[in-house]
Amino acid sequence: MSTTRIALLGFGTVGQAVARLILAQPDVSLTHVFNRHVARKRVDWLPGVTWTESIDDILAARPDIVIEVVGGRDPAGHWIAQALASGADVVTANKQLIANEGDRLLADASRNGRRLLFEAAVAGGIPVIRGIREGLAGDRLTRVLGVLNGTCNYILTRMESAHLGFDEALAEAQAAGFAEADPTDDLDGYDARAKLSILARVALGYALPPERIACGSIRPVRDIDFVYAAQLGTTIRQVSRAIVEGDGLVAGVTPGLVPTGAPLARAVRNQNIVVVTGDAGGDTGFFGFGAGGGPTAVAVMSDVLALSGHRVAAPAGTPDARQPVSVRAGMRERQYVRFVVDDRPGIIAAIASACAAHAINIDSVLQIPWADKQALPFVVTLDPCEPASLVPALAAMRALPFNVAEPFAMPFVE
Ligand SMILES: NC(=O)c1ccc[n+]([C@@H]2O[C@H](COP(=O)([O-])OP(=O)(O)OC[C@H]3O[C@@H](n4cnc5c(N)ncnc54)[C@H](OP(=O)(O)O)[C@@H]3O)[C@@H](O)[C@H]2O)c1
Repeated sequence: MSTTRIALLGFGTVGQAVARLILAQPDVSLTHVFNRHVARKRVDWLPGVTWTESIDDILAARPDIVIEVVGGRDPAGHWIAQALASGADVVTANKQLIANEGDRLLADASRNGRRLLFEAAVAGGIPVIRGIREGLAGDRLTRVLGVLNGTCNYILTRMESAHLGFDEALAEAQAAGFAEADPTDDLDGYDARAKLSILARVALGYALPPERIACGSIRPVRDIDFVYAAQLGTTIRQVSRAIVEGDGLVAGVTPGLVPTGAPLARAVRNQNIVVVTGDAGGDTGFFGFGAGGGPTAVAVMSDVLALSGHRVAAPAGTPDARQPVSVRAGMRERQYVRFVVDDRPGIIAAIASACAAHAINIDSVLQIPWADKQALPFVVTLDPCEPASLVPALAAMRALPFNVAEPFAMPFVE
C-alpha cells in the first residue's frame, strides 16, 4: 500500500498533537506544515517536513490529504475550497466554518469527487458524527441533547462541587486553560450552537444555520441556583437541544435544570456528552472529552485514517438536508425562575398575579433562610407553560419594583 501524503495547515494546539499522532502511524506521512511566521513554529521532532507560509506551496505539492486546524472562517474556508479543487481530501476541526459554510464546502468536495470530513468539529475527541452516521443510520432520529461546551461545563460543575461563585469558577477555568481570555463564545452559547447546527444536520437531517438557534448565556447563573437546584433533585448544565416537532424544530442552547441522575448530569469538568433519541433504538449516548489537543487530534487522525483507507470507509459527503418549517427556542415545559428581591410584603402575590395574567400556574416557592433581606434570593417553579405565555410573563416579572437583580429563568430539561 502506498504512503498517504499529508499537509497540515495550522501548527497550534491541535496541529501539534495531530503531527505527533501522524508520526506514530505507518503508511501516513506528514510532508508539509503551513503556518504564519513559520520560523517560530519549527520543531526538531518532525524531520524531513517542509515548513511554509505559502498556501501555494501546499497546493503545488499535491498532498493526498490536507488537514485544516487553523480555525476561523476566513481564509480557512478559501484554503479548503482550493485544496479540494486541487484534488486533495480535507479533514477539518473547524466548527464555525462547517456550521456556517459546510453546505457549500461539501458541495465543492462532491463536485471535485473528494471528501471533506469534520469529526473533530463537534465534541472534540468523541466520535459522535461517525457514531451517528454509521452506527445509527438505520434509525429515524428525532432528538439531540448535549453538553457541548467544555468551558461552560467546567464552570458550572466547579460551582456545583466546590461551591465557587461564577467569577471564581471562570477565573479558575481560565487559569487551567479551559477558558479563553475572552470567553464570550463559550459562555453565551455561540460555540455550542455551531456544534448543535452540525448535529442537527448529521442526526436529524435538518439545515439549521447557527443564527436560527436561540442562545441563553450561563453568565446569570449564581452559586445559590445550585442550592435550589439540589432541592429540586436537579443540577445545572448548559444544554444544547434540537428536537423534531412536526415539520419544525425546537432548537436552543440554554442553561437548564437536569435531573441529578440524568446522563447530562454525568458530564463533569470539561467533559461533553451527546444523547440522541431514535424511534426504534431509543436513547444512545456518546461521552468523553470534547476539547484539548489530544482528544481533538484523535478525531482528526481517525478521519485521516478513514480517508486513507487504512480503516473503515468514510461516508461520502452529507445527504441533502430538509428546511425546518419553524424553529422554536423552547417548548411547553416546567420553568425555574430565581429572583433576588428587596424583601417586603406582597412579593409572592405580585409574581402570582403576573403569572396568572398569562395563565401560568406556580408549582412551588423555595426560600432558604437568608440574612440579607435587601438582596434575598428565592425561587419560583412554574408548571409546564408555552414560550408564548412565558415570555410576556417574565417581562412583567422583570418590571416588578422589588427586584434588585434581573430574574433568571431556565427550563427543566426532562
Ligand atoms: N483546541 C481545542 O481543544 C479544539 C477542539 C475542537 C476543535 N478545535 C478547532 O481546531 C482548530 C484549531 O484550534 P487550536 O486550538 O489548535 O488553535 P490554535 O492553537 O490557535 O492554532 C491555530 C494555528 O493556526 C495558525 N494560524 C492562525 N491564523 C493563521 C493564518 N491566517 N495564517 C496562517 N496560520 C494561521 C496559528 O498561528 P499563530 O501561532 O501565529 O497564532 C496557530 O499556529 C479551530 O478551528 C478550533 O475551533 C480546537
